Parts: sequence; C-alpha cells; structure tokens
Amino acid sequence: MLSESQARDAVIVALDCDRERALELAGLLEGKARWVKVGMTLFYRYGPSIVDEMRAHGLRVFLDLKVHDIPFQVKGAVCSAALTGADIISIHGLGSSAMIAAAREGADEAAETTGRDRIRLVAISILTSMDPASLAEVGIGGSVEDEVSRLASLSCAAGADGVVCSPREAAGLRALLGPDALIVTPGIRPAGSDAGDQVRISSPSAAIAAGSSKLVIGRPITHASDPRVALDAIHHELLSA
Ligand code: C5P
Repeated sequence: MLSESQARDAVIVALDCDRERALELAGLLEGKARWVKVGMTLFYRYGPSIVDEMRAHGLRVFLDLKVHDIPFQVKGAVCSAALTGADIISIHGLGSSAMIAAAREGADEAAETTGRDRIRLVAISILTSMDPASLAEVGIGGSVEDEVSRLASLSCAAGADGVVCSPREAAGLRALLGPDALIVTPGIRPAGSDAGDQVRISSPSAAIAAGSSKLVIGRPITHASDPRVALDAIHHELLSA
C-alpha cells in the first residue's frame, strides 16, 4: 500500500504536446503532479528553457532523450542534460558499459557543479517497438526477454540507476535488479480508459504491484476532459495498490 506522498511521487505525466499545452498542463496540475516527462519533441524545439519552465511550476523532470553515442560525447551530453535541472535522464543500454559509465560521470559532474543530489540515469533496453524480426535484422539473435535482462543488468552494473521497461517486464527486472533499482514503466492505462496505440498495458495498481517505481502516464491524464480529476483518480487507485 502506498502513502499519499508515495502515490504522488510514483506518477510521471508525459507531456507529448506543444509548449503552450505543456505550460497549460503544468499550471492545471500544479500542486497535484510531482513529475513530468519531457521528450525529444519538446526538448529539441524549446531546449533547456522548457525544463526551467516545468521546474518553475514545482515539477521534477524526467528528460527522456535516450542518449546513445560514443562515451566521450555521451559524458558531455548527459552533463549538459543534467545541468538543465532534470532529475532523471534516459540513455540507451545498447551503447555498452563504457558508454553508461561515461554517462554516469557526466551526471555526477553536473551534480557536483550545481550542488544537487545524485541525478538518476535510466537505461532503455530494447525498444518496445522492436520484435524478434527487427532484432534479427540488426544482428541481435537472442529473444527480446533475454536481451532486455542482459542489457538491464549490464546497465545497472555500469552506473545506471535503473531501466525503462514495459510493466509486463517489471516483476522479472525487479527480481533481477533488486529493491533499489528505479524501474520506470510506460504503457499504463487505468481501468476503463482508451488503450489508444498501447498494446501491452497494465493498470496503475498492477504496475506498482509488479515492482514499478514510477509510472509514465500520458494521454489518460493529458487528454482527459479534466486532467486534475484523472490524476486524482490514479493517485486514489495507488493508495490501495
Ligand atoms: O499517452 P501514453 O500514456 O501512451 O504515453 C506514454 C509515454 O511513454 C509516451 O511519452 C511514450 O513515448 C512513452 N513510451 C511508451 N512506450 C514505451 C516507451 C515509452 O509509451 N515502450
């Protein structure tokens, strides 16, 4: 069972929209939401100012940039991303342990420069848009499950704080990675809401029960007729999770 504060801390509202709507949602959800996700579409257009604007509303930011490059570049990119004030940043596990270690150095450097707490890194394992055929196409022979587990272990051993995965993988990865790993899961749909293009979905309470630390939830909140009511209902469901 989650406390009120834990329930609020568990939900990350995905802002897949333009800046005007992101600011409108930040205002609407102020005092209720604790976290938002800023992805590449918003960030590439508006840059660090969009993170500042969210933080000005009292929101913490998961900056989902899925960084993947040579270690030298990744260290600089993650340092720059962390200097925006983001609290969680995503990187690709496929970049290797050397790349993840470089990302860790970049995040730690930014934390030291700004006097902030540890900036957390979550690794993307295999994109959920990939299936065995597309894995084989890029030369990866194992099953999706085996590859996800391997990349999750490698990433956390190299300095990531956790992973982004489907809620269906959360229980297995929690057992593999232990109690402290940050397990971030999109693909969440409260009972009765439209699944949209998500296929492998879980309810908020089922995802928490499976071991998720944080739930990335977009349209069930942002497209609701009243986003505040939708977020309240999710918090309420989590109080009994
Ligand atoms: O609107 P919805 O709740 O489906 O949004 C989920 C968010 O999580 C989106 O920002 C989407 O890009 C992201 N995501 C996802 N599935 C993944 C990885 C990320 O839906 N496997």
